[in-house]
Amino acid sequence: MEIGDLICDWRVPPEKLDLPPNTIHLWGVTLKQASRYLEELRETLAANERAKASRIHFEVDRDGFIAVRGALRDILSRYHPLPPSELDFSYGRYGKPALPPSAGAPPLSFNSSRSGEWGLIAVTRAHAVGIDIEFIKPCEDYPAVAANFFSPPEIRALSTLPQELQPHSFLKCWTRKEAVSKALGTGISLGWTAFDSSPAPPERVQVATNGDTKFSVYTFIVAPGYISALAFDGVNPTLKFWTWPGPACSSFSTKAGTIAAPFTEPTIHPVSPNEVSR
Ligand SMILES: CC(C)(COP(=O)(O)OP(=O)(O)OC[C@H]1O[C@@H](n2cnc3c(N)ncnc32)[C@H](O)[C@@H]1OP(=O)(O)O)[C@@H](O)C(=O)NCCC(=O)NCCS
Repeated sequence: MEIGDLICDWRVPPEKLDLPPNTIHLWGVTLKQASRYLEELRETLAANERAKASRIHFEVDRDGFIAVRGALRDILSRYHPLPPSELDFSYGRYGKPALPPSAGAPPLSFNSSRSGEWGLIAVTRAHAVGIDIEFIKPCEDYPAVAANFFSPPEIRALSTLPQELQPHSFLKCWTRKEAVSKALGTGISLGWTAFDSSPAPPERVQVATNGDTKFSVYTFIVAPGYISALAFDGVNPTLKFWTWPGPACSSFSTKAGTIAAPFTEPTIHPVSPNEVSR
């Protein structure tokens, strides 16, 4: 944890959600919670999503994909007139899902990420948004990865840190770069070495290849053992953190009159002292 990092203040969402301009709703989905609804969530997926799921070899990855994609549909439908199964995603050149504008519905932008036991979903209006979460685990070859993907100032900043802080700082920089590239929709196809993800405040991240667009980037701590970043092409958004309580249309749901289960933290993975920031 460093100065400027945000701790997610997770809350149970109200039944009626308001998403004003310049607001980002961040939804935390624990896979443990989602696994209770896996069949229900699978039913809401489109044929191409089910086909993608069936091509995923390992069950844990397959279930993770179904859980987060199903939760994404459920969450988006809370802001949209259509039910989860009728949302029709389009895909950008590099695979970023989007919802085409639909009559009578204000625009929705979103992005999702999954790692370990967590899925994160960011939802906003009329702004590009990108999100990344990483479970903190040892990455011994981080200097080589940084040499290939980080900008010269990022590499310099990393190499001047005490050795024991470098793995965490590497991951922090990685998630920030990934969030920016996901906001742009390019993913890893963007020349990552060509932009600096942590300019001195109040400067915002500028990607040389993307003209005037600048990104506000936030690092936040989702839960112990995880690091995450959010990129947004606006300034000073209001951030709200909701725990996903299960499908809204489910018989267990808040809309059906039951009280949302209180948020329970997922298992905390042991982390070596080298990976914990001060
Ligand atoms: C986007 C990307 C960075 C995601 O990396 P990751 O760490 O494995 O995955 P995350 O969990 O953080 O994010 C995955 C989610 O991001 C979204 N996503 C997919 N492609 C995306 C893109 N280009 N931009 C933004 N978001 C994207 C999807 O919702 C995806 O969820 P899914 O697994 O349910 O489909 C990576 O897949 C990538 O670089 N894709 C671009 C691929 C590419 O360049 N292809 C060549 C031409 S097609």
